[in-house]
Amino acid sequence: MYKIGVIGGDGTGPEVVKEGMKVLKAISGKYDIKFDFIHYDFGGKRYLKTGEVLPDAAIEEFRKLDAIYLGAIGHPDVKPGILEKGLLLKLRFALDQYINLRPVKLYPGVDTPLKDKSPDDIDFTVVRENTEGLYAGAGGTLKKGTADEVAIQESINTRKGVERCLRYAFDYCRKRNKDKKLTLCGKTNVLTFAFDLWERAFYDVAKEYSDIKTDYAHVDATCMWMVKNPEWFDVIVTDNMFGDIITDLGAMIQGGMGIAAGGNINLDEGGTSMFEPIGGSAPKYTGKNVINPMAAICAAGMMLEHLGESKAADDIEKAVIKVVQNDMKSLSAGKMGHTTSEIGDMVAKEVA
Ligand code: IPM
Ligand code: MN
Repeated sequence: MYKIGVIGGDGTGPEVVKEGMKVLKAISGKYDIKFDFIHYDFGGKRYLKTGEVLPDAAIEEFRKLDAIYLGAIGHPDVKPGILEKGLLLKLRFALDQYINLRPVKLYPGVDTPLKDKSPDDIDFTVVRENTEGLYAGAGGTLKKGTADEVAIQESINTRKGVERCLRYAFDYCRKRNKDKKLTLCGKTNVLTFAFDLWERAFYDVAKEYSDIKTDYAHVDATCMWMVKNPEWFDVIVTDNMFGDIITDLGAMIQGGMGIAAGGNINLDEGGTSMFEPIGGSAPKYTGKNVINPMAAICAAGMMLEHLGESKAADDIEKAVIKVVQNDMKSLSAGKMGHTTSEIGDMVAKEVA
């Protein structure tokens, strides 16, 4: 029995996690896995009603869960930053989910904007550091609103934080067993403090992984290669900000936000990880039953993999591949040829 905290969140979030839960329920019969879903209504609506974003008591409760399944965070009537920092980033930081794992995989039959690239070419994973860097919130403002205003936003990089991320990436690359190649994505030519630490740690840790080839690319060049030669990548490890940026690009080359999933992972004993579609809350599609739930379904699959239910996770991926290839006209909202709930039904039927 797995205790799963479900935060549907804002916009289309609740609609897509509903389909993910449908698929999880369908697979639970097959493998005798049981889920206890505990629902939380955190998000924009609750904030607008009560002023509460995420109380500390909830975080203490989350620590006892086996995992969190998250829909989307972001509400058009709430000032940017309040929910993102107060809910999503607070969860990632408070639960010390130090890895953001984002596979970029083009499934057969899915359109990619990259001409002449196929599923053989687009299949890599980004390991994004998830608790430090520019996201740490270090910095401040002086003389705000005046002509002399100063704004400082600092990137925090600790040897411990960087090293545990790198170790995860090396281990992941070994386990993935594809090209056994790990690329550090940075900016050593300009960010000569932060990425000096990253680079030294990278090559130090690499000594313990003689079976893994190491490579380095600046972040701008990484963007270029992701479009021109995505087949060069196996696993990419990078900091929080660069990881955020390159995984949106990654989502686009794998067929869009409708299919891109990610995990916020804490591998420590008793740690609670969180799985989510990486796209936003898509307010304009909310409540219309047109949003693509595949990213949320894939996130549910990643959650099962994390929980050690590899067979069930595999089944979900196979079902997604089948439905995407045979039944969906497009992965874009409103153009799928089916409703949100029909897609969930099809995947559920396939896994059962
Ligand atoms: C993501 C999102 C978040 C991030 C935002 C919503 C805070 O863009 O998960 O990639 O920047 O990490
Ligand atoms: Mn992002």
